[in-house]
Amino acid sequence: MTVATAPGKVILFGEHAVVYGRPAVAVPITQVRAMAVVEDSPRPGVYVIAPDLHYEVSLADMDGQDALFVTLSQFQAAAGLKEWPDLIITVSSAIPIASGLGSGAAIAAAMIRALAIHLHRPELTNQAQLSALTYQVEKVHHGTPSGIDNTVVAYEQPVYFIRQQPQNYLEPLVVSRPVQLLVADTGVRSSTKVVVGDVRRQWQEETATFEAIFEACGQIALSGREALEQGNLPKLGQLMNENHSWLQKMTVSSPELDTLVQAAQTGGAIGAKLSGAGRGGNMIALIEPEQEEKIRQTLLAAGATNVFSSIIGK
Ligand code: PMV
Repeated sequence: MTVATAPGKVILFGEHAVVYGRPAVAVPITQVRAMAVVEDSPRPGVYVIAPDLHYEVSLADMDGQDALFVTLSQFQAAAGLKEWPDLIITVSSAIPIASGLGSGAAIAAAMIRALAIHLHRPELTNQAQLSALTYQVEKVHHGTPSGIDNTVVAYEQPVYFIRQQPQNYLEPLVVSRPVQLLVADTGVRSSTKVVVGDVRRQWQEETATFEAIFEACGQIALSGREALEQGNLPKLGQLMNENHSWLQKMTVSSPELDTLVQAAQTGGAIGAKLSGAGRGGNMIALIEPEQEEKIRQTLLAAGATNVFSSIIGK
């Protein structure tokens, strides 16, 4: 039996703009993880079981567009596996789905890791390989993903990321002092594919305006990276607030996200913003550790359905 996990993630700076070649900063959220368990099976075939979702399906019956099918076929091609042995793959995740925390990427990465170890293909657990395979699965969820989710989930380190050809630019970041975030859920589920498509339509109609917004977000990511490396919390907080304002101009915030961001900002957080595709999902607040309980209560009172703490760089 082989067990592997992969973390969730949040985008600190630069979501959406990253799709258009601007830099972004993302960090793993190690408190919530996806897990895959691979075991040899007494019954013939490959079965994927997700007990939390009361889901069980055999590879033979899977839809070709299914993310699980794409995960398995990507692995099979990369491993040069002619025939599958009989396996049971059990998948579970503490990462809420469709809420900006990278659950799809984490499930794919955990499955590929567990399969690679179980089937003696250690080269496929290499971070770059894992990230590349996970990217292929991200396409099912996102349409045109920038590649930042699979990167941060596979490397399990804060990353500064630029989508570019022929190869994305990627720099793992070293955080000089632990940075504490509260991650709060609006409880509203949102499709990244839909929101990214909507931003694209607006960009096509108002190219100059949207290019200027993306450029501003890119500059924020550049400064944010420096502030994170230096442990400059006031600067980080200010940049998060500014990034949120630009995301509002992109129309990817929502009343629920704005309420939580404002509650955090007025309730004592150093800074706050939505994280991920937006229109729902989670927001993040940068806080001083001694403020944690107070700001958690403020967020819950403002309608957050779930709040958890995550420390970056520890
Ligand atoms: O919703 P999430 O957390 O998967 O984030 C998507 C981030 C975007 O920048 C909106 C899209 C992308 O592919 O980078």
